[in-house]
Amino acid sequence: MGAFRFRLGTGVPPFNVAEWRERARRRLPEVAWSYIDGGADDRLTLSENVSSFRRWRLRMRSATGVNAPDLATSVAGTEISLPLALAPIGAAGLAHWTAEPAAARAAESCGTRLVLSTASSYRLEEVAEATQENHWFQLYPMGGRERIGLLIDRARAAGYTALFVTVDVPAVGNREGERRWNFTLPWTVTPRRALHMLRHWQWVYEALRHKRIAAIHFLDEAEAAAEAAAKASGLGAGMAQAEASKEALLKLLQSDLSWDDVRWMRERWKGPLYIKGILDPDDAAFAVDDIGADGVVVSNHGGRQLDRSLATIDALPAIVGRIGERAEVFLDGGIRRGTDVITALALGAKAVFVGRPFLYGLAAEGESGVRAVIETLREELRRDLLLMGCPSVSALDRSWLIPAGVR
Ligand SMILES: Cc1cc2nc3c(=O)[nH]c(=O)nc-3n(C[C@H](O)[C@H](O)[C@H](O)COP(=O)(O)O)c2cc1C
Repeated sequence: MGAFRFRLGTGVPPFNVAEWRERARRRLPEVAWSYIDGGADDRLTLSENVSSFRRWRLRMRSATGVNAPDLATSVAGTEISLPLALAPIGAAGLAHWTAEPAAARAAESCGTRLVLSTASSYRLEEVAEATQENHWFQLYPMGGRERIGLLIDRARAAGYTALFVTVDVPAVGNREGERRWNFTLPWTVTPRRALHMLRHWQWVYEALRHKRIAAIHFLDEAEAAAEAAAKASGLGAGMAQAEASKEALLKLLQSDLSWDDVRWMRERWKGPLYIKGILDPDDAAFAVDDIGADGVVVSNHGGRQLDRSLATIDALPAIVGRIGERAEVFLDGGIRRGTDVITALALGAKAVFVGRPFLYGLAAEGESGVRAVIETLREELRRDLLLMGCPSVSALDRSWLIPAGVR
């Protein structure tokens, strides 16, 4: 006896990020899934973000006496217990209505932090109130200096301690999956779509009840549209809000953003400031040396902007070569395993951010799902460093990597 155990429920918890992704996919209707998992054009950059890590092999030393690798590091002056934090995600409420407060609480309970997006589903003050620790704020520099200045002041007043200015959205990337299932009103209901939504009744019910699928800071500014949305009812109201906030974002989009604007933001925000969405070493050097940024996030927005831009792990070495000695360099895009984190750190990143992995956990289970994803990556990282015989994340450097195929 005792060889079998019967239990109700969904069975064995996911072992890895790929399995969390499957669980999220089952729970979400296409309208949310296409937003979360989609990429630009032919999704080449999206897939290379993941596959390019696999071109590196890890050195393995034996009998080193290492038994508890040290994973701690710091980002923006904040100590974090592992070199991984949560990337800014707009409208995370499409994954799960508990959205950013849940993600931020999960992050801090794991000893790390969330970068809150300007396009969040909850106001930045609501997230600050729902958490114990100070998190970081991502700024979309859109709508002119007055609007941007107000957001900066609100973020400071609410206790956010670092600013991440995203510079890779002069236009919204061509995400065709999102467009196919878009929010454009009137939302076309076909019998097939109605059936599909019925099959995802739990998500629909929560979207109706909590109305957290819009980008709230933009909705606040889309007054006329928001009024129209308020008059609509049911799922229509939620969709109308989401559409209104998206329209406001598109209207405020600043295609002509220049380094002068960013310099002005640098003067306005006194704390640590990072430029997110850098792939070119010249831009990285300008951001740090001329603008006075404390560092950069090497990012292509998770393959959602320019398809055929460089995979982030391929862009990283040249940027580290230019500014690595005098600034913090972070990376996001394609991190799915502990070995990916190790590769990024060995190539000079101080820490990494994950976007979709935490969204998968959030979509599947809310706050506990985000925590489980972070803990899965921590456990992989710890085990892999032990297998490599590497004592700490700070000991990782290029000597721990071997290009695949080289002997
Ligand atoms: C659904 C979704 C929404 C996003 N929204 C934002 C955003 O509001 N601001 C931002 O700077 N980046 C945004 N990003 C990009 C992420 O911050 C990050 O660069 C990317 O997700 C990293 O790639 P990964 O998903 O492979 O980890 C978004 C990404 C996704 C998947």
